[in-house]
Amino acid sequence: MQGLLEGKVAVITGAGSGVGRAAVKLWAEHGAKIIAADINLPSAEESVQLAGAQQGQIKAVQCNVADPDSVDAAVALAVATFGRLDVIYNNAGITVNPVPGVGLRKLVDLPHDEMRKVEEVNINGVVFGAQAAIRQFDKQGGGGAIVNTASVAGMIGYGGVLYGATKGAVIALTRTLAIEVADKGIRVNSVCPAGMLTHYSGMDPDSENKDKILEGMGKAHPLGKAIDPADTAAAAMFLVSDLASNITGVSLPVDGGLTAGRKVGG
Ligand SMILES: NC(=O)c1ccc[n+]([C@@H]2O[C@H](COP(=O)([O-])OP(=O)(O)OC[C@H]3O[C@@H](n4cnc5c(N)ncnc54)[C@H](O)[C@@H]3O)[C@@H](O)[C@H]2O)c1
Repeated sequence: MQGLLEGKVAVITGAGSGVGRAAVKLWAEHGAKIIAADINLPSAEESVQLAGAQQGQIKAVQCNVADPDSVDAAVALAVATFGRLDVIYNNAGITVNPVPGVGLRKLVDLPHDEMRKVEEVNINGVVFGAQAAIRQFDKQGGGGAIVNTASVAGMIGYGGVLYGATKGAVIALTRTLAIEVADKGIRVNSVCPAGMLTHYSGMDPDSENKDKILEGMGKAHPLGKAIDPADTAAAAMFLVSDLASNITGVSLPVDGGLTAGRKVGG
């Protein structure tokens, strides 16, 4: 199936790596015009190159989602470049990186400055993206779609405590905001990926042990394989497409069955 986002203008945050990079490529293949926003501009520019889209179909911009002015500027660039905004994908997210050789730090050991940074990016970044998009959707007379990258860590105990709390906040925000803006025809949904080999949490997707790491990650998921960033980008694309025109307030696991439970007996 092609052309799911034909004629739509999207801002994608965290576009320089992992899920964001996969979304830039897939969404462009489906006809979207895209502002690829990332705090790391060269990485966003590389995503544009790798997408191999038509000249002018994607524009990279430096954007810090923890700064509302920066997010407003990315939305304004979409309007200045492509004339409107139809979608924002609030995907940028971080965690407190594990200590090499030690692993995830326990809640009691988390430094406050690092905690604040995670909260600002993972919660405020989604809030600022939603605010900027809704203001623009209002100017256009309604309609529009917001999708956020939450995580299975917001649904079950998984990974770092603080990180899970921020992703749980995104899931709660998704529900409540969906109700708040439904009468304007704006839809709000999230995707909840499980383990993906990206630069998240200090991982290295270019590691020479990549196959071994993926095999290990796969064992945590009932379907037996790690989640591909493109799987998450595809689920997010469905949720912002017209195929999902009557879906709002959901947080869709992209988790190979991880949150479904576990096999008992048999
Ligand atoms: N990788 C996983 O296992 C996993 C699992 C569940 C959810 N997630 C979520 O998926 C989303 C994408 O992560 P990923 O796995 O692609 O990681 P990644 O580290 O590969 O990509 C994240 C991108 O966000 C950018 N970014 C970081 N801070 C930013 C900021 N303040 N403003 C703008 N951009 C910023 C980074 O530069 C990077 O390009 C995140 O929200 C993450 O929490 C990841």
